[in-house]
Amino acid sequence: MKNHINAYKLRKLIVGIDKKVPLINGKEAVEINFDNGATTPPLVVVLKAIIKYLPYYSSIHRGAGYKSRFSTWIYERTREIVADFVGADSQKDIVIFTNNTTQAINKLAKRFFQKEGKGIVLSTVMEHHSNDLPWRKEFDLDYIGVDQYGRLDFKDLEYKLEKYKGKVKLVAIAGASNVTGYINPIHKVARLAHEYGAKIFVDGAQLVPHILVDMKDHKDPEHIDFLAFSGHKMYAPFGVGALIGHKYLFEGGIPSEPGGGTVKFVTHKDVLWNEPPLNEEAGSPNLVGAIALGESIRFLKHIGMENLYQHEKKLLKYAIKRLKEIDDIIIYGDSFNIDDRVGIISFNIKDVPHELTALALAYEGAISVRSGCFCAQPYVQKLLNISEEEIEAYMKNEDKKRPGLVRISFGLYNTFQEVDKLIRLLKVISRNKNYFINKYGIN
Ligand SMILES: Cc1ncc(COP(=O)(O)O)c(C=O)c1O
Repeated sequence: MKNHINAYKLRKLIVGIDKKVPLINGKEAVEINFDNGATTPPLVVVLKAIIKYLPYYSSIHRGAGYKSRFSTWIYERTREIVADFVGADSQKDIVIFTNNTTQAINKLAKRFFQKEGKGIVLSTVMEHHSNDLPWRKEFDLDYIGVDQYGRLDFKDLEYKLEKYKGKVKLVAIAGASNVTGYINPIHKVARLAHEYGAKIFVDGAQLVPHILVDMKDHKDPEHIDFLAFSGHKMYAPFGVGALIGHKYLFEGGIPSEPGGGTVKFVTHKDVLWNEPPLNEEAGSPNLVGAIALGESIRFLKHIGMENLYQHEKKLLKYAIKRLKEIDDIIIYGDSFNIDDRVGIISFNIKDVPHELTALALAYEGAISVRSGCFCAQPYVQKLLNISEEEIEAYMKNEDKKRPGLVRISFGLYNTFQEVDKLIRLLKVISRNKNYFINKYGIN
C-alpha cells in the first residue's frame, strides 16, 4: 500500500500522546518524545488487544483448560507472525521469545559457542554494548572499523575476513546504529561473510522497527542467519523481544538458561531437554508481551513499513536541515548524504555539556531526548575523537565527567511541528549558554 503517513492523525493511536508533564516554571506542557531509539510508547491497538485477550489469560504450554489452550494458541501464533514479518523460513528457522535484544544476543552467544566452539567473531566499532560484551567471553573478538564519518568501513571487513581466513565464525553487526542511525548494508555483509564461511547475526534493535527486514531464503548468499530485536522499541513495551535463526543452533546441548519449560523429562541424574524453541524459553512465557508484539506488527504492516520509513526519513532530513540553523551546532556523522540513515541524529552545542542540553530541553520545553554515550561508548569515543590518554584518564577516575552526545530519535507519530519546537528551544539554549549553565549548575 503506497500511502503517505499523516503523523498528526496517527498520534491519537499512541497511548499517552497528549499527556502533559511539569516544566521548571511550574506550568505543564504536552511531552514531545524524541527518544524512540531508547523505547517507544505503546500503540492504542496494542493496549486494546491486551485488554481483549486478558480475560482469557492463562498458563502457556502447561494447562489443559480452555483458557490455557487459547493462550498457548495466541503465543504460538505470534511466533508465525514474527517469522513472517522478517521473512524467516518457517521450516528451518525458529523464533525464540526473549525479554529484549540483549537477552537474545546473550542466548545466541552461548549457543553459538556450544555448537561452533571457539573462534573469531567480527563485530564493529559502531555496536551497542549489547552486541559487543556478550561475545567477549567465549570468542576472540575483533572490530570492523568505521570511516571518518562513522560509517562501516566495508574494506576493513574484507581485510579482516581475509586476514583471519577460515577462522571467522560469525559477523555480528548492527542493522542500524543507535548513535548515528547509519543503516548497514546487511545483505552485502552477509554475502561476503558467507563467502568466507562465516555466519551473520544482525542486531535489529534499531532496524526492525523502521525498515522492512527480509532475512531471505537460506540458499540466498545474502541470507541473514540470525536476527534479534526488541518489542519495546516498536510500540509493544511489554517485556518481549525475539531471536530468530536456524534451528540447528538450538538443537541438542544445554539451554542457555535451563529451568522449567526447557525439559521433557528430569530425574536427579538426568535431563531430557525440550526441542527448540521451548528449550530456550525457561520459566513462564510472557503472553502479554507476545500479544503486544503480534499486534504492533499487524499495525506496522497495515500502515506499511515503506510509508513509515519514508515518513521518518522526511523528519530526519527536515530536522538536520533545521539543526544547521543553530549557532555552534555539531552534528555527528555525515549530515549531507543522509540516505543511509534511520531517524536518529546525535549532536552537541559547542561548549554546552550534553547532559545540560538534554535537561534544559526537558525542563524548559517538555522535550525528551537522550544524552550520553547510548551504550555505545567506543563508537562515541571515536566520533568525539577522544584520545587514548583521555580514555585512560576516564578508566582511572570514575568521577571524571563523561563525554557524550545529545540524541534525538523519531517514531512514526513525530511531527514537523515538534521538530520546530525543538529547534526553537535549541536556538535559545545556544544563544544563552551561560544563563543555562548557571541555572542548572552543569558545566
Ligand atoms: C542497536 C541496539 N542494540 C541493542 C540494544 C539493546 O536493546 P534492549 O535494551 O532492548 O535489550 C539497543 C538498545 O538501545 C540498541 O540500540
